[in-house]
Amino acid sequence: MSSGNDNFLNLKHWLKNRLSAERRAALRRHLVEPLGFLFRRDLPKLATIYGTDKWGAHWYAAHYARHFQHLRRKKITLLEIGIGGYEKPTDGGGSLRMWRRFFPNAQIVGLDYFDKNPHAEKRIRIYRGDQSDEKLLRQIVAEVGRPDIIIDDGSHLNHHVLKSFEVLFPLLADDGIYVVEDTQTAYWPDTGGSSDNLLTAPTSMALLKSLVDGLNHEEFIKPGYVPSYYDQNITGLHFYHNLVFVQKGKNQEGSNLVCNNQMKP
Ligand SMILES: C[S@@+](CC[C@H](N)C(=O)[O-])C[C@H]1O[C@@H](n2cnc3c(N)ncnc32)[C@H](O)[C@@H]1O
Repeated sequence: MSSGNDNFLNLKHWLKNRLSAERRAALRRHLVEPLGFLFRRDLPKLATIYGTDKWGAHWYAAHYARHFQHLRRKKITLLEIGIGGYEKPTDGGGSLRMWRRFFPNAQIVGLDYFDKNPHAEKRIRIYRGDQSDEKLLRQIVAEVGRPDIIIDDGSHLNHHVLKSFEVLFPLLADDGIYVVEDTQTAYWPDTGGSSDNLLTAPTSMALLKSLVDGLNHEEFIKPGYVPSYYDQNITGLHFYHNLVFVQKGKNQEGSNLVCNNQMKP
């Protein structure tokens, strides 16, 4: 039996294949945007309305809701790697529009390997390039400011994920959140992963797991230990199915984490 979510996705898919780009834009203006406004506080519903796979194909939106709720009305900058739709410039963009709706005061920035300029609009900036291009990543941050949230939903190739994290994590705001999606590729050889060497292979999951002990580096009984940048600037790691959140911050006995039952940076 198909769910309401499936029916809505099927209808969107059916319409997408039959309507011209102009008619799709009109549909977005007259149907999708009003619906988005109606459900602006509900990330799983917004993911479905705007057509990102963050709900349905994956179940990430509920985790995002929990981790991002306290930032909803803040004037933040969110950078997402991977706009969607691959070669077709007008395809994709669903998650950028979902974030723009959920965060009414945010600047949303998208980076994709392919041309995605048609998705540029008020509060949405588009960049084209490779997520492993250090010069480009630094240029983006120089132009848009230090992001409060970075989401890696790009190629999911392990060496790309590692490079983006190495360059961008230090550039994230001091209390920012870095998210890596689709970490299942850490186990797949064709994306540079391994299902055997879970701690030593050069994969996203191996790196992210290696950060866990750093949360407690002050307790190490290891004279002369020099804390790494990650030891000193990560206050939380949250692992879910194929999804990881890294909370940046300075350890102040948890004062920057939980307050009034809400996650805080
Ligand atoms: C899974 S889609 C993103 C979906 C979108 N974030 C969403 O939630 O709707 C992945 C995107 O990453 C882009 N991509 C692939 N390799 C990339 C790279 N090396 N650098 C930047 N973007 C890349 C692809 O062109 C594709 O559009």
